[in-house]
Amino acid sequence: MSDSIGLVILAAGKGTRMKIETPKALAKTAGRTLLDYVVDAALEFAKISSLKAEIGLVVGHKKELLEEWLSHHPAKNQLKTAWQKEQNGTADALKSCFNDLPHFWQYEYTLVACADTPMIQAAEFCSLFEALKSHPELVGVAATFEAHNPKGYGRIVHGDKGFHIVEEKDADEKQRTITEVNSGFYILKTKHVKEILGSIGNNNKSGEFYLTDLFQDKFSVKAVKFPSEIPFLGINTMEQLAEVTALLRERKVKQLMLDGVEFLNPSTVHLDHEVQIGVGSIIYPNVTLLGKTTIGKNVTVESGAFIKNSMIYDQTGILAHSYLEEAVVHAKATIGPMARLRPGADIGSESKIGNFVEVKKSKLAQGVKVSHLSYVGDAEIGENTNIGCGFITCNYDGVQKHKTKIGKNTFIGSDCQMVAPIEIGDDAFVAAGSTITKSVPDGGFGIARSQQLTKEGAAKRFLKTKKS
Ligand code: UD1
Ligand code: MG
Repeated sequence: MSDSIGLVILAAGKGTRMKIETPKALAKTAGRTLLDYVVDAALEFAKISSLKAEIGLVVGHKKELLEEWLSHHPAKNQLKTAWQKEQNGTADALKSCFNDLPHFWQYEYTLVACADTPMIQAAEFCSLFEALKSHPELVGVAATFEAHNPKGYGRIVHGDKGFHIVEEKDADEKQRTITEVNSGFYILKTKHVKEILGSIGNNNKSGEFYLTDLFQDKFSVKAVKFPSEIPFLGINTMEQLAEVTALLRERKVKQLMLDGVEFLNPSTVHLDHEVQIGVGSIIYPNVTLLGKTTIGKNVTVESGAFIKNSMIYDQTGILAHSYLEEAVVHAKATIGPMARLRPGADIGSESKIGNFVEVKKSKLAQGVKVSHLSYVGDAEIGENTNIGCGFITCNYDGVQKHKTKIGKNTFIGSDCQMVAPIEIGDDAFVAAGSTITKSVPDGGFGIARSQQLTKEGAAKRFLKTKKS
């Protein structure tokens, strides 16, 4: 099939050097799996090139986890999986692809990508493909780069005509000083793969079948050297994962600054790939923004804020050391300092959630104030209602959760408990220090505390003095 390409992503490896339980391809950086980034680049390349393209994903170690990942992928119909039963090396992985997906032999070109290289983008695939297309005599091209630290990478050994690749383990002292390394990304004529793949042996220090053996001095192959190592940084260790996470964060922060977001100390902010922030917002030092968090325009997020999968609308203030998870904060509301919004907290516009207040699965309408030291769980609170300090919804009876409903323009005094299920109407007033067990109607006054007794001059019976 002319003008067609099989894009094979190798993701069967265990990732021994990472020492984690999940397959390496599912390790996360900036909130997404390593595989997500590589698949994105492949899909983008398929879109912008005029080639007929299909992606083959080679799975192996804990393949059920990769299949589960794939079942949620929006482009799952464009991705086929192949199973490498034992992880005997990268050449064996490619063989598994052709065994399980034999129609991949019909594609004119085969692109091979490693799943552990999340900085890669479609641009690199395009340049590599261009290099192969512009020299019809070539049977394959490998992307290479100068590594500041070549340790762990295959070294590029140039011969008179072509080149070959020597893995770190198999390299001699002299070869280890070579800084031009193999990225693990190749585009080959499928015909060449068909001729050579079956004959690749495992006579090397690892006893593995190396895909790099597709490139030998006697073949018409080319090492295409890219100017920067960043797109090809491979992740084999936790240290490399941290380095790449820092680079992804830097790239994202730079883009946000171009879009008009102010970072007071950009290098201290951690944010995931999918986070969005609107123009005019100010992000203080040491802020963590994770998952699908969206922050609107002109929002202030102070130091120590930790926000995960939340929706924060325009002109809000998320004050220092507040923790928000799956929460919604409407325009002009302020949260914190030191507040906690748990999943299902929906805070109305111009509302105020103050220090040491926890809100869970509760909808607060516009202008509600819960300013100090309170727990609001499974509740609904109407607009402009004021909740005093030390308020508690007693929502749990040890078995079930119950609802508290409070109307609008109501005043709840300090130190009140609502024993749910319970309803307090609109324009109602609950006196401070009340444990409310019966509902209060619209316009009603509720008080539930014992009578005070005052005895003049009786204090001395209770005051104790220290014996010296
Ligand atoms: C590989 C290259 C090396 C290159 C480096 C770039 C080989 C022999 N070496 O080394 O020259 O410099 O990438 O990052 O190819 N995989 C399988 N099945 C296996 C083994 C690996 O699917 O049996 C997958 C892994 O999941 C990974 C990719 O292949 O996505 C590369 O494997 P890895 O073990 O990371 O190879 P490197 O040692 O990094
Ligand atoms: Mg690797």
